[in-house]
Amino acid sequence: MSTDHAQVAVVTGANKGIGREITRQLAQRGLVVYLGARDEQRGRAAERDLRAEGHDVRFLQLDVTDAESVSRAAKRLDSEVGTVRVLVNNAGIGGPMHPPSQTPADQVRTVYETNVFGVITVTNALLPLLRRSGSARIVNVSSVVGSLTAAAENVDPSGVHPPGAFPTMLSYATSKSALNAVTLTYANELRGTGILVNAASPGFVATDINFHHGVLTVEEGARVPVLLATLPDNGPTGTFLGENGTAEGQVLPW
Ligand SMILES: NC(=O)c1ccc[n+]([C@@H]2O[C@H](COP(=O)([O-])OP(=O)(O)OC[C@H]3O[C@@H](n4cnc5c(N)ncnc54)[C@H](OP(=O)(O)O)[C@@H]3O)[C@@H](O)[C@H]2O)c1
Repeated sequence: MSTDHAQVAVVTGANKGIGREITRQLAQRGLVVYLGARDEQRGRAAERDLRAEGHDVRFLQLDVTDAESVSRAAKRLDSEVGTVRVLVNNAGIGGPMHPPSQTPADQVRTVYETNVFGVITVTNALLPLLRRSGSARIVNVSSVVGSLTAAAENVDPSGVHPPGAFPTMLSYATSKSALNAVTLTYANELRGTGILVNAASPGFVATDINFHHGVLTVEEGARVPVLLATLPDNGPTGTFLGENGTAEGQVLPW
């Protein structure tokens, strides 16, 4: 399949869950999608399934915590396609969802390796290819639990948690707060370059990360990330958009 005219997207953590569905929805819109997965078997299985549906989806070995894996992936993309239009930093881990008093610092470090440092490693490795597109989109898959405003008010604007019960899990929530800060920092650096950088909150989606306790489907969870990945050139940058069942999504407070 030729990539001569098709635009290229890269999705991390795309072998299952929301990332796999983002991959499918971007491919449905005609993009060639590199399906990032750290494990070859799981990645190839997802690639096979999505290709069987007729999509141009290509397994890309990519462990976001492994600098060599990221560098190899960037080199392969450089030689195969040269330009990347869309990067969706979706790979993420939950880790033990404990409150601060019960969380050893090492647990926080482990979650940050994937949810924060992994995003920085992948983004910096792919930025030269994104810049070449002249009109690129970076979407960081965050979570409403990373909202510092919501934490300060102890109110979940998405309504998943009752007022006064904003979740207190240290590693995961603060990794997403850090990711939000990372998102804004890139958005500001890249203003005027044609690269729009935004954070997405997919909603509470039934996937492995929450043992399928989520209430939304992956199709619903992929909607806002795909919306941000396919923004027009005059679309926003430096915004935090969440799923709320409306066509335009809900702008969330940082
Ligand atoms: N589900 C929700 O309710 C919800 C809500 C808010 C935000 N999110 C965010 O949405 C994103 C996707 O989560 P999900 O719900 O779809 O969870 P999931 O089904 O557990 O999928 C997570 C994906 O990330 C991959 N991954 C983990 N560590 C990786 C690494 N080091 N390198 C590359 N890939 C890695 C996993 O690969 P393996 O299969 O190899 O483990 C898997 O493909 C995450 O960033 C999550 O924080 C989810």
